[in-house]
Amino acid sequence: MEAFLIDCQMEKILVIGAAGQLGSELTKALADLHGNDQVIATDLNESARSKFDFCRFEVLDVMNKEALESLVRSEGVTQIYHLAAVLSATGEKKPLFAWQLNMESLLSVLELAKNLKLNKIYWPSSIAVFGPNTPKINTPQFCVKEPNTVYGISKQAGERWCEYYFEKYGVDVRSLRYPGLIGYKSLPGGGTTDYAVEIYHKALAEEKFNCFLKEDSSLPMMYMPDAIKATIDLMEAPKESIKIRSSYNLAGMSFTPKEIFESIKKHHPDFEIEYIPDFRQAIADSWPDSIDDSRAREDWGWKPDYNLDTMTQDILKNLPDYFPPVKG
Ligand code: SER
Repeated sequence: MEAFLIDCQMEKILVIGAAGQLGSELTKALADLHGNDQVIATDLNESARSKFDFCRFEVLDVMNKEALESLVRSEGVTQIYHLAAVLSATGEKKPLFAWQLNMESLLSVLELAKNLKLNKIYWPSSIAVFGPNTPKINTPQFCVKEPNTVYGISKQAGERWCEYYFEKYGVDVRSLRYPGLIGYKSLPGGGTTDYAVEIYHKALAEEKFNCFLKEDSSLPMMYMPDAIKATIDLMEAPKESIKIRSSYNLAGMSFTPKEIFESIKKHHPDFEIEYIPDFRQAIADSWPDSIDDSRAREDWGWKPDYNLDTMTQDILKNLPDYFPPVKG
């Protein structure tokens, strides 16, 4: 145990896109694990600084390769968590920008890892790598993908690059295909699954929720504490147990807008919903209903803790501390 802690403390961790939905929670978990002084949070916006009073914060545009390399060299960074990305719905509005940002930034990080022999890289993939020709129920780890969103295309290409850098250059890059992530510590960030974040804000504000998906649109989802646990477990697992170097399927729960609405209604009986599908319905229709994550379970012992009702209880209790509801 002691040796493990000492080992951890020697790592210097750079988080790129730390103020986003995942980074807001993962950065704290990394600081708790490795020590506050061992983590550097970076984000595009100076305004994010206030979120990171527990560790160092730097403004960083990941597209600025020189600034990225200079920070990594000067701070002796050994691990990078590269979380910055344009998500699915925003990506459809700015496809070329999404491709450029998502791909160029990953390649910069992989090149740095190769050239500077960094210890480990984490890069998130997504259920968006799957497409309309993918088996929808219990989607297997290896199957037809053919994503039809720019976000999904960039994640699929990114997965191929991760495996390539591992196979050709020995870069220890690890990745998870997250389902829709649901947390209460940050606001929705332009994803198709983000309706399941916004719905809790509306319930607590005692407002009707206009849902941009149909009531029966089932999608794979995960509560943020499970996503954090999966990420840390994957990154701390011995190198030899990581047998998939593209990205692991990962499952928490699957539900429809109607099911999450019913789960919230148990606590807020007057809550109302209206289904007004928009362009995001087609994105949701192209993604799986549920995911087979048996490889993650077998290789590094993955198991989620939360289901829809336990997540709902926890969010309704904690969200108001972060975003006090504005009623009326
Ligand atoms: N949550 C993401 C999105 O909806 C999927 O990875 O874009």
